[in-house]
Amino acid sequence: MKNHIEIKKKIRPFNKQISVTSDKSISIRSVLLASQAIGTSKIYNLLESEDVINSLISIKKLGVKYKKFKSYYQINGFGLNGYNIKKDIVIDAGNSGTLARLILGLLIDTKKKITLIGDNSLSRRDFSRVVKPLRLFGANINSNNNKLPVSITGSDFLRPIKYYEKIGSAQCKSAVMLAAIKTPGITKIKAKKSRNHTELLFKYLKIPILIKKKKNFDLIEIRGQSNFNGFNYKIPGDISSCSFFLILTLLTKNSKLILKDININNSRTGVIKILNKMNANIIFKNKKNYKGELIADIIVKSNKNLIGINCPRKLNSSAIDEFLIIFLAAAKAKGISKFTNLGELNNKESPRLDIATDFLKKIGIKFVRHKDNLKIYGNPNIELSGNYVIKNFKKDHRVFMMSCIASLTFGGKWKIHDKDSIKTSFPTFLQKIKYLGAKIN
Ligand code: S3P
Repeated sequence: MKNHIEIKKKIRPFNKQISVTSDKSISIRSVLLASQAIGTSKIYNLLESEDVINSLISIKKLGVKYKKFKSYYQINGFGLNGYNIKKDIVIDAGNSGTLARLILGLLIDTKKKITLIGDNSLSRRDFSRVVKPLRLFGANINSNNNKLPVSITGSDFLRPIKYYEKIGSAQCKSAVMLAAIKTPGITKIKAKKSRNHTELLFKYLKIPILIKKKKNFDLIEIRGQSNFNGFNYKIPGDISSCSFFLILTLLTKNSKLILKDININNSRTGVIKILNKMNANIIFKNKKNYKGELIADIIVKSNKNLIGINCPRKLNSSAIDEFLIIFLAAAKAKGISKFTNLGELNNKESPRLDIATDFLKKIGIKFVRHKDNLKIYGNPNIELSGNYVIKNFKKDHRVFMMSCIASLTFGGKWKIHDKDSIKTSFPTFLQKIKYLGAKIN
């Protein structure tokens, strides 16, 4: 079967309401934590995408049973010492950096050797950022030059660590936090700000955690070896998946969209803050607190008058997965947009900063890149008419979806390869844009 799509027409105005897929970060965390809880957990609205299915397959390999029911997944944990590993095994994290890095934290006490592998994209990503702190706990870890495969054999003599997480990586912070719950004593982490779903889940599960929020970092203390019970959790919508629709609506004239039940945790809403600074008027309705997470409906209307932004660096972390799509808004905005310190983008599923500049070049948008900084000269009158082929992007789901939004809003005839990439995070993406009126071959 062909694995590309063709889009030859811009989308027509729409006025609709949709939901998007469930949050990927919280889905993976809830599966991993349920696998270490005592008793039954029921996870409603679990994201059924490859990254999360790989998380379920991984806990099964570790001896934890799960079962799918109509509206939830049931996971039966046996506590912090409950993994049942009888022989050396291999765990395949597929495309998921989050699964790979977080699960390593939970394996620091494994008696058998566990080898972690992944797909081509994951195999080019850096693992030193988790290998280094996890070694300090006492685990034995070998890697292929800080890349996958990484194998880990745990230790019976774990010791708590003090760690300074300087990248601002939630995966890194969470790997250390998960290792901390397996380790006697108090682990202390100083962490540059990043998404805090793990912290909120720990609090909800009554895992002993203390957090002091400072201006630029958080001080986190976790007391280990405290078992926690199985839990029920309903995963909210994913703001990262939602962001493609925000830009689609902003850039399509006379359109309006309501996105239901989206997680609007402050550590994830950089995209909305950035777009609103660019003159968008995106608002939240029906705000509620769900087990520590903030959830709301998001309302967005088209906007002909987007303006360039001097993007504050402090918003980078809370918009880290959204820059590709934010660059499209900047391409169409009046004036110059400036983004700085974007080096981490090249450490994602694909080298996204490099891919973004190639993309801007392809569609004729002027930009200047200096190291990790990018200046985009917006063109409010952008109207494409050529042929565009998008391929060789390491099957990065977000590059695929961003290209679809560009084709639906800027015009031109597009052939976009590697359609299967969306299975990692948003398997129903194409159905949703078709529902809004997109014509896709
Ligand atoms: C994630 C953290 C971010 C993000 C990724 C998901 C998480 O990665 O880019 O898509 O769930 O913790 P980093 O921790 O590498 O910044």
